[in-house]
Amino acid sequence: MISRREFLDIFAAGAAGLAIGSTARSYGQILGSNDRLNFAIMGLRWRGYAHLSALMANKDTARVSHICDVDGKIRAKFAGIAEHELGYAPASDKDFRQVLQQNDVDAITIATPDHWHAPLAIAALQAGKHVYVEKPCSHNPAEGALLVQAQRKYQKHVQQGTQQRSCQLTIEAVDKIHNGLIGRAYFAKGWYGNVRKSIGTGKEAPVPPELDWDLWQGPAPRRPYKDNIHPYNWHWFKRWGTGEALNNGTHSIDLCRWALGVDYPNRVTSLGGRFQFKDDWEFYDTLVTSFDYGDKMISWEGKSCNGMKYYGHDSGLIVMGTTGSVFIYGDGGAGYEVYDLKGDKTNEFKEDSAIPFYDKFDGDSPTNAHFANFIAAIRKGEKLHAPIEQGNIVVTMLQLSNIAWEMNRELQVDPQGGKIQNDPEAMKRWARDYEKGWAPHL
Ligand SMILES: NC(=O)c1ccc[n+]([C@@H]2O[C@H](COP(=O)([O-])OP(=O)(O)OC[C@H]3O[C@@H](n4cnc5c(N)ncnc54)[C@H](O)[C@@H]3O)[C@@H](O)[C@H]2O)c1
Repeated sequence: MISRREFLDIFAAGAAGLAIGSTARSYGQILGSNDRLNFAIMGLRWRGYAHLSALMANKDTARVSHICDVDGKIRAKFAGIAEHELGYAPASDKDFRQVLQQNDVDAITIATPDHWHAPLAIAALQAGKHVYVEKPCSHNPAEGALLVQAQRKYQKHVQQGTQQRSCQLTIEAVDKIHNGLIGRAYFAKGWYGNVRKSIGTGKEAPVPPELDWDLWQGPAPRRPYKDNIHPYNWHWFKRWGTGEALNNGTHSIDLCRWALGVDYPNRVTSLGGRFQFKDDWEFYDTLVTSFDYGDKMISWEGKSCNGMKYYGHDSGLIVMGTTGSVFIYGDGGAGYEVYDLKGDKTNEFKEDSAIPFYDKFDGDSPTNAHFANFIAAIRKGEKLHAPIEQGNIVVTMLQLSNIAWEMNRELQVDPQGGKIQNDPEAMKRWARDYEKGWAPHL
């Protein structure tokens, strides 16, 4: 058993001697800035820009003090844009261990690949920081459970980036469902569609000079660098990614679970395959998964390579009850529609089209609101909309779905904690192997 001190030592190892690329034009010089929380954004490519955008939208209460990425080119590009947009230059570093040592950092946001989410969040909690962690909050169920334990132990706020939990119209729709709008809600069906291209067959290649491949891999057992993994395509490799169910199912299944008022299911089934292309992609591109609760049920259909829309939307969910149904969406503006038992629309509510859903840098209004909620939780004790002990439930459910797909059989689940029952072989996939010296511990 490794001690906390040793764990911190692991994360401190190698940090000494790495210069923080801070600039003199420091945020600390801004008048009145002490009232605002200092944020460090970790992972600066795609989703990192949405975090920047959301922090800019909350500039009265938060500022970006640090930015961090293991890829020097990606970091430099982000640093230039951030300085231009913010009017000051956040300190910039490639090594999160350096950033976590800074006393003036109050909170970090994590937009790295999935295999880093829980280990980085746990390290941040141990360093006394609050954490906004992108979905999925973990790479495997054991790690997610450890993160929940860490949050309880270190008593800092941890919000998962399922931003539709902060979307006003979604909150309103779920509230109405809970208050009997469609009688007793018993079935919720989510979906997602996209037209992702083939990722081809990767070739071993020299690590690009700007990339710290060792730090990119971090907790994951080492692999030679290949040219079709970073950035983004790691999503489709089991060593680092978690597949479309976790990548996009997390959003809609989280809402299904919330609307039905359920936690872990009794049973999970999952069928699908890689049907569109033959390439390095290690997950399904088409998946149908279901969660059984005895008197209620959730199902999700994911199509990574076919953009056929349902109800005119790439993603969404329908909640069905004894007297009608509610269709909830968050793509291309947020809203919900109410249907009677025969399937005729009786009402609809849409986000005011004058409010742009997507703003600069791929941000969106629910993400801005989700950050506002996180900041208010830290500053004023406001209740988090997606606290980690809730966020971890949907993530674990979808990891169970991945395990059911890999095992090609139904899983019996303990509704008390989500663990797989009577199937030791499947239960082996509850945790992952770590690179020696990089396993997270409390
Ligand atoms: N909530 C949402 O709607 C939403 C939308 C998009 C992405 N995401 C999530 O955001 C995460 C990032 O996705 P992306 O598309 O931006 O991936 P990406 O591959 O484009 O970017 C990830 C970045 O993290 C960097 N990185 C890797 N290891 C790091 C480390 N140890 N420290 C600092 N930086 C590190 C990489 O160099 C890369 O620049 C994913 O987990 C994804 O699921 C959430």
